[in-house]
Amino acid sequence: MNQVQLETIFRMPDGLNIRIRPARVNDLPGMEWDGEYAHFRKLYRQHFQNSRTGYTRIWVAETEAGEIIGQVFLLLYSRQNELADGLHRAYMFSFRVKPDFRNHGLGGFMIEFVENYLLTRGFDTVRLNVGRDNEQARHLYEKHGYKVVGPEEGRWRYEDQFGRWQHVHEPAWRMIKNLKPNSSETEGSD
Ligand SMILES: CC(C)(COP(=O)(O)OP(=O)(O)OC[C@H]1O[C@@H](n2cnc3c(N)ncnc32)[C@H](O)[C@@H]1OP(=O)(O)O)[C@@H](O)C(=O)NCCC(=O)NCCS
Repeated sequence: MNQVQLETIFRMPDGLNIRIRPARVNDLPGMEWDGEYAHFRKLYRQHFQNSRTGYTRIWVAETEAGEIIGQVFLLLYSRQNELADGLHRAYMFSFRVKPDFRNHGLGGFMIEFVENYLLTRGFDTVRLNVGRDNEQARHLYEKHGYKVVGPEEGRWRYEDQFGRWQHVHEPAWRMIKNLKPNSSETEGSD
């Protein structure tokens, strides 16, 4: 089996190097993007704690100047077994790149990096939800071999930075990619 790769470099068309690496605790403020995502402070902290147990993985994309310009989260194990079971199936979420750095291939590179990570860990499938109005992201996933397998109501809640519960309703499509086309777990098999 190949060695699990935990970090890599992406070169922007202008030559700027972007490092994709596991998130550290002092990245958490930078992941709020100057306040735009401050409401997810507690959620990110919780996922970061989970990354210490290995149930979740978080990677950030960092410029040479140390700015956090992207992130992707992977759930490897969840009590919601249909999303992630720790062995075969994983769930990708909270994936984004700062607007100034989009459309240069970084997002696609991060998807492939995460998929390679999962393959070397022996996982078979990746699931994700994409907002029904997020045509651009859906297109990107389809280009990378993901297929829509059904609708998701997209109701969830989180505690914001002030301790208030926020209820979210984001109708989405569930997408799946089979990382090992010959494996027994196929799209929509659950
Ligand atoms: C979705 C997202 C992460 C994609 O990141 P990105 O860095 O722009 O992704 P890419 O550059 O790999 O791909 C985007 C487009 O750039 C194009 N592209 C890829 N490589 C390129 C290159 N070297 N030069 C120019 N364009 C390129 C791709 O073809 C794609 O265009 P298309 O989908 O119209 O064909 C980013 O748009 C984002 O953060 N969106 C907001 C949050 C979001 O929606 N997240 C997904 C939630 S499910």
